[in-house]
Amino acid sequence: MSPLYCCLVAVLCLPRASASPVAAASISVSAVQTPVEPTPVQFLRVHNEARAAVGVPPLSWNGTLQLDAARYAGELRTECSLRPPPPTAARGTGDGAAVYGRNLFKAYGRRHTGAEVAAFWADGRRWYDRDAGRCAAPPGRTCGAYTQVVWRATTQLGCARRTCRNGVDTVAVCDYYPPGNIVGQRPY
Ligand SMILES: *[C@@H]1O[C@H](CO)[C@@H](O)[C@H](O)[C@H]1NC(C)=O
Repeated sequence: MSPLYCCLVAVLCLPRASASPVAAASISVSAVQTPVEPTPVQFLRVHNEARAAVGVPPLSWNGTLQLDAARYAGELRTECSLRPPPPTAARGTGDGAAVYGRNLFKAYGRRHTGAEVAAFWADGRRWYDRDAGRCAAPPGRTCGAYTQVVWRATTQLGCARRTCRNGVDTVAVCDYYPPGNIVGQRPY
């Protein structure tokens, strides 16, 4: 028996009173890996950080909204092969957009995480003057995605992210309920 084998047996057998050898082994493996925050958690966390920053209560994750977002993201994904889009944020159209608020994201040339997508939308805070209800965004950007992120009356969130061209392009959709960006109202 080699020394390495002895060592392994010792590691696996020591915690045996409380856990099976398989469980003990998988615990030591996951402790070595860098933990990756699941994409839905990334979307929700960054939204709720942006809301907390302006004193608005957090959103909850909703699987119905997530399914609708995933369906629409799948449709957008097919466009990726036609023409590379620049990074954009927009109010969506499509089936769910009649019922839900919706933010869209498309970026060419780099894979974006859920946290990066939500941060891109939340970045609109820089241009939004809440007291005046005015947006001073540069050309090509708007405050609409941001105001939906922090819309006080919105309580539920569901998002999906898809990549295409082997992960080089990203499309993402978030659905919001009740919808925000009601004309004539302030977000918070
Ligand atoms: C999720 O959203 C749908 C659509 O708005 C709604 O009907 C459903 O009640 C929500 N689910 C939860 C758990 O709140």
